Amino acid sequence: MIGENQVSPKQVLDFATLKNAFIDLKAINLLIQRDNFEELIEESLKENPEEFITEDRIKDLIIRKETKLSGVSQEVIVEKSGKRLFRDEYSSKFRILDECDVTGKSYSEGKVGDFLSYFRDKFNFLEPLLHKRQGFEPKPLSRLDRTAKNKEVHFIAMVREKQKSRSGHLIFKLEDLEAECTGLALKDDNKIMDICRNIMPDEVLGFRAVKGNDDLVIIKDVLWPDMPNRKLKTINEQLSIACISDIHIGSKMFLEKEFSKFISWIDGDYGDEKELEKVSRIKYLLIAGDLCDGIGVYPDQINELNIKDINEQYEVFASFMKRIPESIEVFIIPGNHDCVVRRADPQPAIPKEFCKELHALGNFHFMGSPSMAEIEGFKTLLYHGNSMHQVNANVSGMDFKRPEKTMEELLKRRTLVPTYGMRHTLVPERKDYLLIREEPDIFLTGDMHHKGYSNYKGVLCLNAGTWQTVTKFQQELGHVPTPGICPTIDLSNGKITENCFYQPTC
Ligand SMILES: [Fe+2]
Repeated sequence: MIGENQVSPKQVLDFATLKNAFIDLKAINLLIQRDNFEELIEESLKENPEEFITEDRIKDLIIRKETKLSGVSQEVIVEKSGKRLFRDEYSSKFRILDECDVTGKSYSEGKVGDFLSYFRDKFNFLEPLLHKRQGFEPKPLSRLDRTAKNKEVHFIAMVREKQKSRSGHLIFKLEDLEAECTGLALKDDNKIMDICRNIMPDEVLGFRAVKGNDDLVIIKDVLWPDMPNRKLKTINEQLSIACISDIHIGSKMFLEKEFSKFISWIDGDYGDEKELEKVSRIKYLLIAGDLCDGIGVYPDQINELNIKDINEQYEVFASFMKRIPESIEVFIIPGNHDCVVRRADPQPAIPKEFCKELHALGNFHFMGSPSMAEIEGFKTLLYHGNSMHQVNANVSGMDFKRPEKTMEELLKRRTLVPTYGMRHTLVPERKDYLLIREEPDIFLTGDMHHKGYSNYKGVLCLNAGTWQTVTKFQQELGHVPTPGICPTIDLSNGKITENCFYQPTC
């Protein structure tokens, strides 16, 4: 706390001398402004009795005390060497679902056959999901010409094209594996127009419609593949998963000090006993991409970099990660800034030549984006979120400040990339790795640089924000990020706790 009555330099110096401490002048000048100068000196010595007390040391102690994290109660420095934490005793239980990850399996040559396989795979997975819907009796589009005019028809189709007519109706070119038709949403039917506006090209949907002339149908209702309604999964064990994203090491806006503080926190290096108990329950850490800022990702990025060598960016990343205790399992996927892998979805894992030391450690798991791991029985879907801008631009009510809403739209569509193209780069693999084949219990994304949480039909959706303050580019777009937060999920009750390390966000 800043003192109302300034103490004198002599008082500070006398106290330091009494404690056999050496202290520099700048530290004294800082301490004379603090009522709690004695406490700060004692705490500094408690951590290192031989220490020469500097201005930086005092500043660090003040920051710790004033952050939400450590301001709760008296800080206790834990002697970890002699203390085993819960996570050290607990054996992790997880498996990585390799079949959901493109790493080492990218065979696309971008030929017509690849595109055909990609779209067929998508249709063949989503079509049976829609088929199961109650009260919905879809027939193949090839049977449409045998249906009488004005009769109700149900069918499942992929949206090949979406257009607005001159008179304001919405026209859709729809197709299944054998035939096609034209779907019309009438402009005076407000209810159907509201629904159809949010349809994106390449989606596979169920339609209830009325047969018109020739291959024309008037759309009356639309079904999305969606998630089933489930209860949020919990377990008896009080374990936590910590989530972070979009660290952007190498950027001038990377919050280095705050990120370092986060690493110390997860390591159990500071915080009161209550905080340490919380941290000791963290057995898993998920990182949803954009580990580094990369190079040449956006125009004039070079001016916003303080590390201009890509190898060095990952070396710095590794140096932070090495401070994470071995008893925490760390799952890492790339993002669009991680230009050591392709930017197009699905992205393979960060290759071994980067972060060599981490790859050699048993607790670091590098996976592609998207990928899935089953952690303590929780199917956990990780995706950086490259397509989220595409959804925000095409679905009403979406906003980068509410990334959880965009995530819900992806779950509803059972795909992480609804549309091929639309400024989104996608490699047409013969298997569509972007489909949400397994129903996740936890769904983590990043990319939006904004925190967001929700429970969508039993799926815990979480966007972890960022560790980078606002860039020039974001400023121009009016984006205000929420940096410096590490949300943790308590697996015993599904509760999300924000752990905040950056004062303006807290
Ligand atoms: Fe990012």
